[in-house]
Amino acid sequence: AAIREINARLQTLDSEFSFRNRHNPIHHIETRVKSLQSIVKKLHSMNVPVSIINAKKTLHDIAGVRVVCRYVDDIYRIANLLLSQDDIQLILQKDYIKHPKANGYRSLHIVVDVPVYMIEGRLFIPVEIQIRTVAMDFWATLEHGIRYKASEEVPPKIVQELRECADVITDTDYKMQEIFKALQMVHDKEEVDEQVTLAAQKEEEA
Ligand code: GTP
Ligand code: MG
Repeated sequence: AAIREINARLQTLDSEFSFRNRHNPIHHIETRVKSLQSIVKKLHSMNVPVSIINAKKTLHDIAGVRVVCRYVDDIYRIANLLLSQDDIQLILQKDYIKHPKANGYRSLHIVVDVPVYMIEGRLFIPVEIQIRTVAMDFWATLEHGIRYKASEEVPPKIVQELRECADVITDTDYKMQEIFKALQMVHDKEEVDEQVTLAAQKEEEA
């Protein structure tokens, strides 16, 4: 229910943003509920006795939402719009864009408490939201696959190469954003020019 709630709010923000600015900040959204197996594994790794109460107390990523945006600016736009909703509470924020992980991983992570109305009343449920660009998602998805496939630790040379790929992708991410912004400015100017011409015509007619 918490995932559905966040998903709906994000879709609404994306639609309204698109209506106002002719730009969809969100490319797509992925959601998942952490499997029982993963919950047990994580509690074990944290040396916490496995119980429903402990899972609720210690894990804030049982409900997970991944928002894949087009451009870096879109990430902060979407995060700020969501966090400005007065019944959404920020629990935790990790900005791996301003401070990428040593391996090159980049994304904005926020954990929010979201209200859900159950039969017995309102509950606040934590949801982990990872917000990233298509480019960041490309790297993270492949890196995860490589790490998962490797039977042991990934050799340092590969780690270094993955880091280099992350840097190249980051450069491209910002370049693509600049291209988009430049084109948007041309388009906006054309629209203003058109309006000025129309206004002048109207005046002449009057
Ligand atoms: P977890 O125990 O994995 O939940 O780590 P954490 O509690 O320190 O949280 P963090 O915000 O660092 O990462 C949580 C999630 O972000 C992970 O489950 C992954 O989905 C993603 N993530 C974090 N680091 C990496 C990374 O280096 N590579 C990839 N592919 N994904 C990452
Ligand atoms: Mg996690």
